[in-house]
Amino acid sequence: MTEELTFTMIKPDAVEKKHMASILSLIANAGFEIIAIKMKKLKLKEAESFYGIHKEQPFFSNLISFITRGPVVVAVLKKNNAVEDFRKLIGNTNPEKAENDTIRKRFATSVGENAIHGSDSLENAKNEISFHFSEKEIF
Ligand code: RTP
Ligand code: MG
Repeated sequence: MTEELTFTMIKPDAVEKKHMASILSLIANAGFEIIAIKMKKLKLKEAESFYGIHKEQPFFSNLISFITRGPVVVAVLKKNNAVEDFRKLIGNTNPEKAENDTIRKRFATSVGENAIHGSDSLENAKNEISFHFSEKEIF
């Protein structure tokens, strides 16, 4: 297995409920190295572009109001097989379908308010990392 980078975002629902530190701790304990991190509030345009692939979906406007309603934590994670392993750690999009011990099972409340994002492919990870971080911000 090769060392990979992936991108994550702790979503506004989890930040509001003060779960940021617990989630970061689970991520670190699962063997991911945090090599970049910051809090930010996504601007409308940024959110629409980040989730642009979903713009024709009926849930798009809810998704955009949700993701822009408060601060998020964006981070770059390093690990062997990071992309796939991180998707396993966060669990199914729908917390009711997520396995026990996943981050979404513990902290998400619905498909819409599901606590955390993780890149779904190596290519998307690269794009999402460069969307949120300059090279100087990654260590
Ligand atoms: P994410 O991109 O946020 O990590 O989530 P994901 O890969 O597990 O799911 P994706 O299919 O990429 O969907 C992005 C976000 O859109 C919202 N969504 N709502 N049926 C629905 O109401 C629905 N489907 C998707 C979720 O918030 C999901 O995380
Ligand atoms: Mg996705």
